[in-house]
Amino acid sequence: PTPLAIDTDPGIDDALAILLALASPEVDLKLVTTVHGNVDLARTTENALRVLHLAGRSDVPVAAGAHDSLVHPQPERAGHVHGTAGLGGVELPPSPAAVDPRPAVVALTELLTASPEPVTIVAIGPLTNIALLLRVHPAAAARIGRLVIMGGSAARGGNVTAAAEFNVWADAEAAQAVLTSTLPTVLVGLDVTLPTVLDEDGIARFAAAGPIGARAAAILQQYVDHARTAYGTTGVVVHDALAVTEAILPGTLGTVRRDVVVDTGLGFGRGQTLVDRRTVSTAPTAVEVAEHVDSAAAVEFLVSRLASLDAR
Ligand code: BDR
Ligand code: CA
Repeated sequence: PTPLAIDTDPGIDDALAILLALASPEVDLKLVTTVHGNVDLARTTENALRVLHLAGRSDVPVAAGAHDSLVHPQPERAGHVHGTAGLGGVELPPSPAAVDPRPAVVALTELLTASPEPVTIVAIGPLTNIALLLRVHPAAAARIGRLVIMGGSAARGGNVTAAAEFNVWADAEAAQAVLTSTLPTVLVGLDVTLPTVLDEDGIARFAAAGPIGARAAAILQQYVDHARTAYGTTGVVVHDALAVTEAILPGTLGTVRRDVVVDTGLGFGRGQTLVDRRTVSTAPTAVEVAEHVDSAAAVEFLVSRLASLDAR
């Protein structure tokens, strides 16, 4: 299996994404690093510990990273979407494991340096930790086998503002540093996540599989309710799980190599990913931008993997 690290801000869809990785034999989850984002760092870290414990995997180390963005403090969190504690109002049992004493960038550096095989990193929160890794330990960052990011939008506008997707908006300077680096990056943005809707029938399938599936479904309930009241939609978009799917099964998404920059100005466009769709780029700093998805297949994959957690 491919060694995997998840950098995350759980977060409802982050929780599902972590569970998906744990259900997938193609990857070996070696490390979870946490970042500010949907809720504050103390909560994202506690939530990561509890989600791993839910799946019986409190052996996976959780190292806490950045409390806030690199330059401008994150303007607001997303408690209205994810619940003030981040997991949709569900109180998971506390983990017997403690937080890893290492800062996230140190834990990532040690993993990247020690691993005989290239490590895949999937970043599903603001990109502060990954930008710090690039700046503090560039040689370790250069060992990343694949960096799969949930963030941005090429042609669908934003979700947190008209222009910006949440993870990029939450730390635009970090996103700009990462997306213009030479790291081997796949950008899984709203273009592919928004059409990939997990409906209530799918949720019911893993809810019925056993206690882990039932808890995962309970965590999602607030997201389902938010989608219904905010957008009038049924079902939910589990952005981060799609990025983890691409990390587990490379090539799930159809990508095109593009030059991407981030609007780091303080105007209305702040946090927008400007994806140059005029040309396919050959620049070393270009990013594989996900532009095509088989949404039905991706949802089926997620549902069946989540249901399998209770069968182990
Ligand atoms: C992203 O923002 C967060 O609220 C979600 O967890 C996801 O990572 C979607 O824009
Ligand atoms: Ca997230």
